[in-house]
Amino acid sequence: MTDRYAVFGNPIAHSKSPAIHADFARQTAQDLVYEALLAPLDGFADAVRAFAAGGRGANVTVPFKEEAYRLASRLTPRAELAGAVNTLLFATGEIVGDNTDGAGLVRDLCANLGCALAGQRILLLGAGGAARGALGPLLDAHPAALVVANRTPDKARELAARFSAHFAAHGPVRGCAYPELAGQTFDLVINATSASLGGELPPLPAGVFAPDSLAYDMMYGKGDTPFMAFARAQGAARVADGLGMLVEQAAEAFFVWRGVRPDGAPLLARLRAAA
Ligand SMILES: NC(=O)c1ccc[n+]([C@@H]2O[C@H](COP(=O)([O-])OP(=O)(O)OC[C@H]3O[C@@H](n4cnc5c(N)ncnc54)[C@H](OP(=O)(O)O)[C@@H]3O)[C@@H](O)[C@H]2O)c1
Repeated sequence: MTDRYAVFGNPIAHSKSPAIHADFARQTAQDLVYEALLAPLDGFADAVRAFAAGGRGANVTVPFKEEAYRLASRLTPRAELAGAVNTLLFATGEIVGDNTDGAGLVRDLCANLGCALAGQRILLLGAGGAARGALGPLLDAHPAALVVANRTPDKARELAARFSAHFAAHGPVRGCAYPELAGQTFDLVINATSASLGGELPPLPAGVFAPDSLAYDMMYGKGDTPFMAFARAQGAARVADGLGMLVEQAAEAFFVWRGVRPDGAPLLARLRAAA
């Protein structure tokens, strides 16, 4: 029987996830359908429970990732740490919540962009759901240092304290305000803020990009985001958007559901060629 999956969001019409999962299903010869479902802003839990009656799993996107975290009857350790859920697995009456965003980011950085994270100085901008999901997988890669900067600095400091305690052996994590970054340089700067959505730039001081650095914006779309343009002008050696993260978080969710890992690289190349 064909298994059913879906992505829930609001809005959702723009989602690339149905096309991505249809491609993965063809690639791995899995019998499944995947659709985009608009959940009412006040009706996410009901929509998921109704779908879970016949479906096998779901992805969750803006603005429901925190609500999905609360809805899950069981959480994976990485979802628990992130405090947000982007992948649900419906199993024998349970709703299991997982978070594949951070794994997708790290896979894009390492496998698609050839970035070795061990020993690197990493700057993570933002302290929302995407930053929380990224922190654990980034720390697992043993960077030399990880600094979290946020517009509301207390959120960055609280996040750094929480992850420092959990990943004590994985290297130092520090939270700060943007002005405190002055005079520091980083090998990898990741924009996990939603500033690009509004055409804005996080208030980064000049000089944070090391000469051979990679600037990565989790946001994706046509052309450079303001952060990517700023990074180029500031001398970052390479810039990348978050399309690869989107594909790789989907590949990780597909693996969670089906036990088989699709190769995201060919699809990513086709999506880039079509953009
Ligand atoms: N490529 C992918 O697969 C993927 C996956 C997940 C997320 N994303 C992207 O990641 C971004 C963040 O998502 P999220 O879920 O973490 O959002 P979120 O939970 O709403 O967090 C937003 C963060 O951005 C900061 N921010 C917002 N506007 C800003 C501005 N003008 N200047 C500086 N900081 C600003 C906020 O700071 P305050 O705390 O001070 O408000 C907060 O830290 C979005 O662009 C989303 O599309 C991409």
